[in-house]
Amino acid sequence: MSYIKIRIYNSIFEDMEHIKIISAEETIVVRHPVLREGKPVDSCVFAGDELETTVHLGYFQSDNLLGVVTLLEKNFDTYQGNGIQLRGMAVMPNQQGKGIGGKLVVQAEQAMQKKNAAYIWMNARLIAVPFYEKLGYQTVSSLFDIPLVGPHYTMLKKLAKLEDI
Ligand SMILES: CC(C)(COP(=O)(O)OP(=O)(O)OC[C@H]1O[C@@H](n2cnc3c(N)ncnc32)[C@H](O)[C@@H]1OP(=O)(O)O)[C@@H](O)C(=O)NCCC(=O)NCCS
Repeated sequence: MSYIKIRIYNSIFEDMEHIKIISAEETIVVRHPVLREGKPVDSCVFAGDELETTVHLGYFQSDNLLGVVTLLEKNFDTYQGNGIQLRGMAVMPNQQGKGIGGKLVVQAEQAMQKKNAAYIWMNARLIAVPFYEKLGYQTVSSLFDIPLVGPHYTMLKKLAKLEDI
């Protein structure tokens, strides 16, 4: 990723102390043990990870990467406006339940609002549905299965326009 892109994005994050732009490669440190435990490392690499438009955020404490999330420019179904797909949401097992995941999503929403995104959507694991609901996401699909990963719902939240905030 270019130095300029990192500078622009980092300048729009409010939690600069903990949340930073990271590379696709760095996300693997958290994605692998949390999302693909026991599976090949290759299974943690997502289509679009390396695109110039894709943003990866990391939550750090004392230089330790504890949580990650990825944002891809991708529309869902027929929803109007620029859509962002949130993927690879993961917090290290011994750090879950401390607010890290929630902070990453809130910061991601703020950054995507400034990029003029209209909504964020994700394929949420059944177990993570209550987490996203607390953050204002709603299910917009029926339950479906992703092979080797399990049951999911697609969830979506419309973002307010910056001028409406
Ligand atoms: C799901 C996950 C990302 C949430 O991150 P986290 O840092 O543990 O969550 P937070 O501490 O920020 O929780 C925010 C709120 O959601 C709630 N929450 C989090 N996970 C939840 C769960 N599985 N079920 C119910 N509520 C949950 C928390 O209790 C908290 O509620 P509160 O604000 O009322 O206290 C994290 O637990 C994780 O990595 N899980 C394993 C991987 C996974 O399922 N990823 C999602 C793939 S779609």
